[in-house]
Amino acid sequence: MSELSVKHLLGIKYLKETDIQLIFETADHFKEVINRSIKKVPSLRDITIANIFFENSTRTKLSFELAEKRLSADVLNFSASQSSVKKGETLIDTVNNILSMKVDMVVMRHPNPGAGIFLSKHVNASIVNAGDGAHEHPTQALLDSYSIREKLGDVAGKNVVIVGDILHSRVALSNIFALKLQGANVKVCGPKTLLPKYIDSLGVGVETDLRKALEWCDVANMLRIQNERLDISYFPTTREYTQQFGVNKKLLDSLDKEIVIMHPGPINRGVEITSDVADSKQSIILNQVENGVAIRMAVIYLLASKIK
Ligand code: CP
Repeated sequence: MSELSVKHLLGIKYLKETDIQLIFETADHFKEVINRSIKKVPSLRDITIANIFFENSTRTKLSFELAEKRLSADVLNFSASQSSVKKGETLIDTVNNILSMKVDMVVMRHPNPGAGIFLSKHVNASIVNAGDGAHEHPTQALLDSYSIREKLGDVAGKNVVIVGDILHSRVALSNIFALKLQGANVKVCGPKTLLPKYIDSLGVGVETDLRKALEWCDVANMLRIQNERLDISYFPTTREYTQQFGVNKKLLDSLDKEIVIMHPGPINRGVEITSDVADSKQSIILNQVENGVAIRMAVIYLLASKIK
């Protein structure tokens, strides 16, 4: 396959397994490019991309911007907190104003689930979902799987546990779709209150005992407790959460194998993961960030080839 089956990247749910393999093969090439002394290619000199962020971001925003610049695209950065959104302008009006400046692609982060899908139906540009509320974060899941493939050789057949707040996590949902599409075995682990009611329909195992989950897995993806999305109390105290679902070095060292530790960031050090685990040789957290640039270059490059 030489092109994606989709015009937008709205979620992993809409991708085929062959799309993921094409993105990974393209990312392999771009990873080689960004490790050269000249880290840039002229591929997208005629493309303009707007990054519009209605929610805070460090990794995703910088990574998309760097990916676009490495591909030689023209880049516009829009932050809702400093824009006329604050004066009451709607999402569609905001985006149509940006598009009237001849923008070809919009990368959007938005707090509302489905915001990217809504936009793709109302504007004539390629849309990339950079995280929509608690729904999906497709490029995060792609870079996560790519990092597992890099570390362990393949994703198929690997046992991956996603630990923490599954209920509010777009990273969890996109990872579940991506990992299952590639043939990984997936479990989730967390307090029952932070597991969605529909979890069984996603075809994943559920484990509420962290030690058992870690003994089973090859990879543990530790999620952040998203205090900004917790409208009620889902567990008694942060201290108790950490005691039951936090990973520390002592626990890791007591396992009879060396598992891989991942985290999408930002990390709450000392809550879901201790510093000695985050910074250990078992952690691939910074590799995930590094791979994010190559993956986003691949996604943008492949989507841009469909609008030319
Ligand atoms: N992983 C992730 O989405 O991080 P940011 O919120 O910093 O972009």
